[in-house]
Amino acid sequence: MLSGKEVAQHDSKESCWIIVHGHVYDVTEFLDEHPGGSKIILKYAGKDATAEYDPIHPPDAIKTNLPKEKHLGPVQPDTVEKVEVETTDEEKARLERVENKPALAEILNLHDFEYVARQIMPEKAWAYFSSAAEDEITMRENHAAFHRIWFRPRILRDVTNVDYSTKILGHNSSMPIYISAAALGKLGHPDGELNLTRAAAKHGIIQMIPTLASFSFDEIVDNAQPGQVQFFQLYVNKNREVARRLVEQAEARGIKALFITVDSAQLGRREKALQLIQDMNQEHTSDPSKVTKAQLGTSNVTQEASKPMPAPSTVLDPGLCWKDIFWFKSITKMPIILKGVQCWEDALEAYDQGLAGCVLSNHGGRQLDFSRSGIEVLAECVKHLIDKRDLTFPNEKFQLFVDGGVRRATDVLKAVALGATAVGIGRPFLYAFSTYGVDGVNHALDILKAELEMNLRLVGAPTLKDVVPEMVDASNLSSHIVAVPKDSLFEKNCE
Ligand SMILES: Cc1cc2nc3c(=O)[nH]c(=O)nc-3n(C[C@H](O)[C@H](O)[C@H](O)COP(=O)(O)O)c2cc1C
Repeated sequence: MLSGKEVAQHDSKESCWIIVHGHVYDVTEFLDEHPGGSKIILKYAGKDATAEYDPIHPPDAIKTNLPKEKHLGPVQPDTVEKVEVETTDEEKARLERVENKPALAEILNLHDFEYVARQIMPEKAWAYFSSAAEDEITMRENHAAFHRIWFRPRILRDVTNVDYSTKILGHNSSMPIYISAAALGKLGHPDGELNLTRAAAKHGIIQMIPTLASFSFDEIVDNAQPGQVQFFQLYVNKNREVARRLVEQAEARGIKALFITVDSAQLGRREKALQLIQDMNQEHTSDPSKVTKAQLGTSNVTQEASKPMPAPSTVLDPGLCWKDIFWFKSITKMPIILKGVQCWEDALEAYDQGLAGCVLSNHGGRQLDFSRSGIEVLAECVKHLIDKRDLTFPNEKFQLFVDGGVRRATDVLKAVALGATAVGIGRPFLYAFSTYGVDGVNHALDILKAELEMNLRLVGAPTLKDVVPEMVDASNLSSHIVAVPKDSLFEKNCE
């Protein structure tokens, strides 16, 4: 058994050992590959990194990513020095805000969760969840696009009872909403993705489990209720045997659909997150004679941050193409849906290849900035699938989903009117559990249900079948008016 003293000697980039859950790992050769960069590992070189590791990684990540010979074995617990984490004044202030956050009952809509999250989440977690690509234009456009669709309600219909339940890929869902996949849930709350599993069970909706969850896939499935329907989101690993194993594991555990992410040939450049890394680096190498970016008010990008966002080297494959999708069809009976389709030509191809559907999505604006909103792409896809393939929508055999910027039941109803089977929601649920745990997600779902009920009545639709294209005026949907956000680097430079 190794001693803490021995481990402490390997505290440099030439020889870097760390302790995680009482075991020692030699990560020297992994430093440059680490998706979060080498600096954060080096901070814990020769030390116990468990507290930093836990919120971000599934428990088995280090074991599965490092070759066996780099697992150096257990360490004598009483010989390991405790890593003191200093509580800064900023952190003290944040903890005070956590204490004083509004009662859950005061949260009136999904935007409120975001407001509270921004005030009380740890900076790193907020940066990861809220960031989007480059100038974040697409992220804002995702919600703004819903503002360009207006209702044409019907009157004098009996809406005493309204029913917003539906079927998604043949499975019951209490509303036309599912929880979209988002990585690293534990950054926001110790129970991370399990908050979503539990709330989904309570509310009868479906959770899409991400490949890069911070709990292991089995842990998330084990936390589901008997019969609870879950979907799986797949990042196709360069090593197709890894991809095959993930698909087979999902199918064996009863996952009902495979959503393959197709908008991520490379990770988008999320500058809010990069800026944070940069700021942290500046803190550690504080040199009073240096002009910092904050002082300059413009982009004085260090070498580290000017690199593309570090990405898991094998998790995303820029070589992924249609022939791989055919291969997936050959290895699974699960329905396959492409997540991240952004124009009608690709939706048509997916239909022609016999897939079960598409999610019209731009990854919450985190990938290609200036990609169009999912709701705009929906209208275009429906039109062409009707014109060219004689389909009707919503369609049972080929289902269209939308995600990105859905914050209100009115957004959901607009998507349904335009032909979507259901919509995916990402950030609002992350903010809900980051601020109030599972109660937050349950409250968010209660809000959505109340909004759905009210708005179905007000548009004069007793069921979702009555929410038809004629109920909306989407004639302005593809007019792109970009409001430049006040907090963007672009805007700061124009001041
Ligand atoms: C923090 C975060 C992590 C995400 N991680 C993934 C992921 O691992 N795989 C994936 O396909 N999509 C991922 N997404 C995209 C979501 O599945 C979804 O497309 C997006 O969040 C919808 O936009 P919204 O956040 O405005 O609702 C992530 C989104 C966020 C905000």
